[in-house]
Amino acid sequence: MATCYLNGKYLPLSKANISITDRGFQFSDGIYEVIGVYDGKFIDIDLHLKRLKRSLGEIKIKIKLSSEEILKIANTIQKKDKLENGIIYIQITRGNQNPRDHKYTSNLKPNIIIYSIYKNLKLNDQLSLKGVPVITYPDIRWLRPDIKSISLLANVIAVNKAKDMKCHEAILFDSNNNITEGNSSSIWIIKGKKCITHPLTEKILNGCTRYKLISIIQKNGLIFEEKIFKKKLLFNSDEVFMTNASNFVMPIVKIDGKKIAKGKSGPISLLLRNEYIKAI
Ligand SMILES: Cc1ncc(COP(=O)(O)O)c(C=O)c1O
Repeated sequence: MATCYLNGKYLPLSKANISITDRGFQFSDGIYEVIGVYDGKFIDIDLHLKRLKRSLGEIKIKIKLSSEEILKIANTIQKKDKLENGIIYIQITRGNQNPRDHKYTSNLKPNIIIYSIYKNLKLNDQLSLKGVPVITYPDIRWLRPDIKSISLLANVIAVNKAKDMKCHEAILFDSNNNITEGNSSSIWIIKGKKCITHPLTEKILNGCTRYKLISIIQKNGLIFEEKIFKKKLLFNSDEVFMTNASNFVMPIVKIDGKKIAKGKSGPISLLLRNEYIKAI
């Protein structure tokens, strides 16, 4: 049974309950983080804790815990659960408020939840050799996806459409046919030696894996470029791959049923995956 840290206490996950007056439950008024654990090591945890702080700041939620204290809790949970591979999930909402009101009061106590989820991230090594099929889907999310909000209904709709089509992920495009990012990943295309991804704007999440990959790209004689690109270029790229905390670097070999890179995992995508794993 996974252990859950809930507002200062460690409980079995099944016993960790919060009130239905929680503003996260009522309004999705909260943020989250997902940190990968690989061979017992946290991946890019400093980057995730920095982003957590930023998300909290953007929606004006104040917590008493420091990043160091959150790291300590994550360590305790990892040890209690003997988690070698999987993820640490952190969710912080603005707190309970009764009566329900869109306007929040200043005396709320945030609800802080941290627990582990076992996931065999190593299975992705085999998957990456084959690569994954994905779909494209309209980006119908709100205008601030740079905040890691728990309001994920648009993402839920997009990825379940992908699931219906037996696909791994949905690549999102805006009303100008520009690719923004994946349903839960950063999207990259490769053209020659260039590894291209969307610039850091309010339209995408600043991926921690994305950030880590930049120096790996440059160290391997490749060129990192931030550029807005259209759906058309996505289909005409040499390779396409996605990055996130649990997939690392995952080659994409089919989009909307059309083959990319002849339907095989591309050599640059696989090189970047190997180098990323080496750097964990
Ligand atoms: C919408 C979105 N974009 C990008 C990412 C990639 O972020 P990271 O590399 O930090 O996992 C995620 C991760 O969940 C995401 O949900």
